[in-house]
Amino acid sequence: MGKIILTGDRPTGRLHIGHYVGSLRRRVELQNSGNFDEIYVFIADAQALTDNIDNPEKVRQNVIEVALDYLSAGLDPDKTTIFIQSQIPELCELSFYFMDLVTVSRLQRNPTVKTEVKMRGFNESIPVGFFTYPISQAADITAFKATTVPAGEDQEPMIEQAREIVRKFNSIYGEVLVEPEIMLPDNSACMRLPGTDGKAKMSKSLGNCIYLSDSSEEVWAKVKGMFTDPGHLQVSDPGKVEGNCVFTYLDAFCKPEHFEKYGDRFVGKKVSFEFHDLDQVKEQYRKGGLGDMMIKQFLYAVLEDTLAPIRERRAKYEQDIPAVYKMLQEGTAKARAKAAQTLEEVRKAMKINYFDDEELISEQSASFAAKYNKQ
Ligand code: TRP
Repeated sequence: MGKIILTGDRPTGRLHIGHYVGSLRRRVELQNSGNFDEIYVFIADAQALTDNIDNPEKVRQNVIEVALDYLSAGLDPDKTTIFIQSQIPELCELSFYFMDLVTVSRLQRNPTVKTEVKMRGFNESIPVGFFTYPISQAADITAFKATTVPAGEDQEPMIEQAREIVRKFNSIYGEVLVEPEIMLPDNSACMRLPGTDGKAKMSKSLGNCIYLSDSSEEVWAKVKGMFTDPGHLQVSDPGKVEGNCVFTYLDAFCKPEHFEKYGDRFVGKKVSFEFHDLDQVKEQYRKGGLGDMMIKQFLYAVLEDTLAPIRERRAKYEQDIPAVYKMLQEGTAKARAKAAQTLEEVRKAMKINYFDDEELISEQSASFAAKYNKQ
């Protein structure tokens, strides 16, 4: 059995660096590792509509933004099939069958659904489509027989629910579907990158995101304004590293290469310092004598190391939007063929493949004929 990756994002906004370290960077590495037989990355527009039903324009505009973010981050359509969820009707069909395998109370217990219902203030008026999106997500994954789902830890309950559905399906109908496994980020800073204001999560509504599509000036302005240690007032004061987002971001983005690249000596706009690794920087900050402006300039340089090439690639793709749509259309056609094949197996296993089942027709005609041949 092949190793198959599937993952995706809701197109409700441009992707930010939290998406990047939480899953996008990993996808590109996995894509280039050569260890996977098939890789699908999709834009979950139908899922985005489950809580944006009155805002279709927002979803529509963000489909292209997310596609641009994918391409500029390094997803390569020759290696990764990139597609749009709503254009694959087989996913709806599979969700409909899966609905018989899940109870209302099981959905109510899904922790991600619980938190999101609260967050969106749905109270008693939860749209059914929103409530059941874990089922549709299970269909997204299983229609492609995905073995591996690279995603953030907030997606764990979704994958668990998908695994349960697969077990239930296979125990009733036979081994058709594949139990997926989540692949979490390997670095804890990447699990959930905080917002630039120090709040637990980057989110568009909190205005605390650094976007992959931000200009270099925007990135610097956001880094300059970042939350650090409120008790670190003077350069000479001892500072806290824990809960200080500049250091959390450095944990997520800074690699040994950065110290090699800057020749152990970082020269920023107005500052310079010498360190050999991130632990030394932290130690100095804890002791005192390292100013916020210095570490922010270092972080900015480290971030730009990742973001500048992404920005350059994005500019190229933005100049040929029809080509991006063509890529999406081709990816969608390829993905649909795969989903259609799984659905054929699913219908057969569920005994709803009437017209292409010659055995069914011949056996039934023989048994009805017997009724008339008996004298
Ligand atoms: N729920 C995911 C998110 O909010 C998007 C998504 C939809 C997804 N279907 C998926 C992720 C299947 C992984 C696998 O980001």
